[in-house]
Amino acid sequence: MNFKDILAEKSVFINKDALSPHYLPEKIIHREKEIEKIMRVMAPVFKNKRPNNVFIYGKTGTGKTSSVKYIMKQFKELPSNGIINYINCRMYNTRYKILQKLANDIVGFSKNGFPPSHFYERIMSWINNGNRFLIIVLDEIDVIKDLNELIYTITRANDELKAGGISIIGISNKISFKNQLDNRSKSALLESEVVFPPYNSEQLKEILTYRANLGFNENSCDTSAINLAAAIAARETGDARYALKLLMYAGEIADERKDDVVTYRHVEEARKSVEKDLVMEAVATLPEHQQLVLYSLALLSIRGSKYQKLNEENDEYFMMGELYEAYQKTCKELKREVRSSRWCKEYIKELEALGLVETISSGKGIRGHSTLIRLLYSKDWIRKTVEGMLLH
Ligand SMILES: Nc1ncnc2c1ncn2[C@@H]1O[C@H](COP(=O)(O)OP(=O)(O)OP(=O)(O)O)[C@@H](O)[C@H]1O
Ligand SMILES: [Mg+2]
Repeated sequence: MNFKDILAEKSVFINKDALSPHYLPEKIIHREKEIEKIMRVMAPVFKNKRPNNVFIYGKTGTGKTSSVKYIMKQFKELPSNGIINYINCRMYNTRYKILQKLANDIVGFSKNGFPPSHFYERIMSWINNGNRFLIIVLDEIDVIKDLNELIYTITRANDELKAGGISIIGISNKISFKNQLDNRSKSALLESEVVFPPYNSEQLKEILTYRANLGFNENSCDTSAINLAAAIAARETGDARYALKLLMYAGEIADERKDDVVTYRHVEEARKSVEKDLVMEAVATLPEHQQLVLYSLALLSIRGSKYQKLNEENDEYFMMGELYEAYQKTCKELKREVRSSRWCKEYIKELEALGLVETISSGKGIRGHSTLIRLLYSKDWIRKTVEGMLLH
């Protein structure tokens, strides 16, 4: 093997980046209305008025982040007395970190160890000195630990400022998160609201076609691949990220096989591997004891119940009591502290909510009511996956 051979290998891709979820497309199709609404909220800044705060909500992969980044680009092209600062709240998840980052980005000062008031004053004097407007994009705002305090700080800042102001563009895919806010923060954040609905399969087809034209060589991606990827994503979630991922994986599979054209067959296979990826991600972020319960269920499923079979068809289901015994055993073997069976039940509820297990009620039987639990993914694969995580 040499480099020349590698470089000469054929590929269905011409620019794989264009299919990646991090790529910022030049056009955001099917979001014209939502983008316009947000722009109208922000427009007063060009007339030296503070824009309302806006809260953007929509399920994952509905184009929220991309649309806001698109708007930011437009915003920067026109002169104004304002700046927009984008914050990924997964990285900056407290009021302190956010104020520090803002102070650093705006006036280049971010040493640790100062009280938050220090950063606050810096930001305030920057605004005051030029009657400026600061627009903060808080992406994934729901993960901020002390969000009420942050919103309160910003509201207070606006009260104190004679000219200029601070506005928030909050983005979230968790609708229930609003309930965690106290009433004052809620009404401050929700000055205006924009909802991003999931895409339907026609819209996804267009989005995919647009990205496929940028990412694949001419005639390397069959419409059957785009149609299937769009249909799968629309049926499941309306998530454009998922649809793009399917198409990109499908291309990789075609390359591996040295096929010239990506078709629905490659998408079918990609779907299997994307699903595994998603489960893997979900499992990796579980708290340890939920992993232990899941792992114990996988071991139990491999070994089989030591009690009489509940009935022939239902032999993948296990009683809560038996699972709890298995969990205790696992904890002992892996030298983890055992939690009570009430906790174990809680963990199972959460695993069920994530779609990793399924529970049914046994109905009245000799042992009275019991919950029966079944693993929803391959037992060997779950065992291997979780084992790797627990032993690291
Ligand atoms: N209308 C669109 N046109 C082109 N590409 C799109 C469109 N909507 C979404 N995408 C693409 O789908 C992917 C996901 O979009 P984005 O990151 O904006 O979703 P999101 O709503 O912020 O999701 P999350 O809630 O998970 O953060 C990105 O790669 C983006 O480029
Ligand atoms: Mg996003």
